[in-house]
Amino acid sequence: MTRISKRLKAITSYVAKDDKVVDVGCDHGLLSIYLIENNLVSKVIASDVNENALKNAISNIEKRNLHIKTVLSDGIEKIDLKDINTLIISGMGTSTILHILHDNKKLKKINKLIIQANNDHYILRENLNEKGYYLKEESYTYDKNKWYVTSLFVKSDNKNTIDVLKYGFLNNEDYNDYLLKKNYEILKKIPFSSFKAKFNRFKEIRNIKKAIYKSK
Ligand SMILES: C[S@@+](CC[C@H](N)C(=O)[O-])C[C@H]1O[C@@H](n2cnc3c(N)ncnc32)[C@H](O)[C@@H]1O
Repeated sequence: MTRISKRLKAITSYVAKDDKVVDVGCDHGLLSIYLIENNLVSKVIASDVNENALKNAISNIEKRNLHIKTVLSDGIEKIDLKDINTLIISGMGTSTILHILHDNKKLKKINKLIIQANNDHYILRENLNEKGYYLKEESYTYDKNKWYVTSLFVKSDNKNTIDVLKYGFLNNEDYNDYLLKKNYEILKKIPFSSFKAKFNRFKEIRNIKKAIYKSK
């Protein structure tokens, strides 16, 4: 059986048996393989924009005698999404992720997005709310000295609160500590001559503390 990292496992906790998934930017294809080997979803298409990455995925799939369709595509552009209801996008920055999700027409039947973005989570959550995706759950995973944010969005007209859009659900004390520490470090590096920037960062820390308090 294929083994996957703790951060990829976090993604699998949001899939359901009847999900028909595209693993966008599959790279080595290990997540797609894991989902099929463990019967966690009913279908997976593994895709990547990079030819070498897709070749690796194909080789890993063939080694295990599995039947997983692979597609070379920039995002979902060249993928037939007829019977697909879920996209998994992980290990990319928010601007790439939003590029992949830019075509609203292609997203018509996609009712679930599982996203592990490397950065700019506020921008991601805000843009996806505007596109009609509601942040239902989020988990925070520490793996190999790094924090990973795994977000489950579902199609809905509901909107998240500003605190959730900015900071997530703040339901993991270790991650909350990390968020505060990161902001204190930024504050420390701002020179006293940049008074406004220092003041704004100070306000941000106060807002995070308030949001953590409210979330309890
Ligand atoms: C850091 S790897 C992450 C791989 C895997 N999703 C994971 O989380 O382990 C990023 C992958 O996304 C692919 N990628 C980047 N931009 C893409 C795009 N616009 N469409 C499809 N794949 C893309 C890259 O080629 C690369 O294989």
